[in-house]
Amino acid sequence: MARRGPYAPYSEVDPLEIFDSFADPNGPLSVLTRSAHVLAGITWIGLLYFFNFVQVPAYAQLSDGARSEALRKLTFRALWWFRWAALLTFLFGLMLMTIQGDGENMDLYLSGVGGTAILTGMLFGTTMFLNVWGVIWRNQKVVIGSAETVANGGEANPAAPAAAKAAARASRANTFMSITMLWFMVFAAHGAVWFDGVGSTVGYWILVLVCWAFVEGSALGLIGGMDSPFNKLAFDQHRNTIIGGFIMLAVIYFIGWELMLAV
Ligand code: HEM
Repeated sequence: MARRGPYAPYSEVDPLEIFDSFADPNGPLSVLTRSAHVLAGITWIGLLYFFNFVQVPAYAQLSDGARSEALRKLTFRALWWFRWAALLTFLFGLMLMTIQGDGENMDLYLSGVGGTAILTGMLFGTTMFLNVWGVIWRNQKVVIGSAETVANGGEANPAAPAAAKAAARASRANTFMSITMLWFMVFAAHGAVWFDGVGSTVGYWILVLVCWAFVEGSALGLIGGMDSPFNKLAFDQHRNTIIGGFIMLAVIYFIGWELMLAV
């Protein structure tokens, strides 16, 4: 079956044809999966931005009692949507990769221009997903559990402040990485066509992996501890997190793509 272009006259379109190519790259299943992926993705990242840009500064101004109540009734609910949306985004993302790679063409898909872009987006997206379940949620359970105990007349968990710090650092790192992540998600299918091909990818991947390891390693406290100069500069204020996120994107795009990859 000849693949229809987007401008095929309606008279040439047979609605039943879609079942012949249902699971092909860019076929109907890919369209449905892509929509589900983006819908779950905006739910996740929307809540991430709410936590970082709205909740953190607002909570700093609330009284202890009000903050505890909001944590237990508002943040707790928001985190439910947040972590399940992150899981769905990840699973639909993997499904999309499988469909677009189309079995034996997977090597070709992942090694081309679009593949290099999507692998970059997936590196950051998957790290963010692991931060949600492995760091943010794991630590928020301790923080919210402690607030619950105190509200019921018990003692605060002494581990709660350190857990809150670990969750906050990972949340800021996710905000930082989200800018590069989203750029390359979209670039894979809509911008990579500007490039005739990719040159040597070794230098590019060294650059990307150094940026990624430094940001994630810092957020986890593996590079100079939780209060390293970088963490304080990039993660204490959300304004700096946003600026830092755009700087990393500019470094990876202009140095990585324009100088190292473009042929
Ligand atoms: C968690 C790990 C993630 C994985 C494994 C993943 C995987 C993918 C894959 C394979 C594609 C298809 C690219 C192509 O057409 O060649 C894609 C596209 C896309 N993803 Fe993700 N993704 C992830 C996270 C996210 C997140 C958090 C968002 C946030 C909204 C997101 C938004 C998008 C968008 C907007 C597109 C492009 C759709 C288009 O332009 O057609 N992804 N992703």
